Amino acid sequence: MHPDIERVLLGREEIQERVKMLGETISADYRGKELLAVGVLKGSVVFLADLLRVLTVPVELDFIAVSSYGASSTTTGVVRILKDLDRSVTGKEVLLVEDIVDTGLTLKYLTDHLYQQEPAGLKVCALLDKPSRRRVPVTIDYLGFSIPDEFVVGYGLDYAGRYRNLPDICVLRREIYEARE
Ligand code: IMP
Repeated sequence: MHPDIERVLLGREEIQERVKMLGETISADYRGKELLAVGVLKGSVVFLADLLRVLTVPVELDFIAVSSYGASSTTTGVVRILKDLDRSVTGKEVLLVEDIVDTGLTLKYLTDHLYQQEPAGLKVCALLDKPSRRRVPVTIDYLGFSIPDEFVVGYGLDYAGRYRNLPDICVLRREIYEARE
């Protein structure tokens, strides 16, 4: 195991099983429709890549990038768009795909931003949720796992840009982020 990791919270097999179930549910719910999956860069890319391959409905792909916490593990509450969608979502069935919902501020900002373009529908799929940290109410239509308030990395999730390539979702050792805060 990587020396900066305290323990594995969700192993790769458990993740794959859950992603498959999510994909099957989403495919059933959208049967007969076309979907536009919007991935939130960069944390959602690994999850989205796996989810896409389970979907059986026609699906288009777009990405949006928002400012993250930088090198800090706690949120400032300030959200900024770094890269907007290539095309408007007006009239589309949109599935917003997030890695993790923490305070909910990012998701609230993103759903408000997308609703302004009047999509035909907008649903949210998040791999992870930390409900104990919520500061604004948000709806997650498709959720992978609810997790305790611990800082996790791997399977796309980072700390200071690192650890995204770890195949499991892991709890980062406190010393790693406390040393930089
Ligand atoms: P929120 O706006 O507080 O809900 O934060 C959501 C964003 O914070 C996510 O998209 C992640 O980029 C980041 N984040 C929150 N918790 C974690 C974590 O435990 N590990 C890695 N990134 C996290």
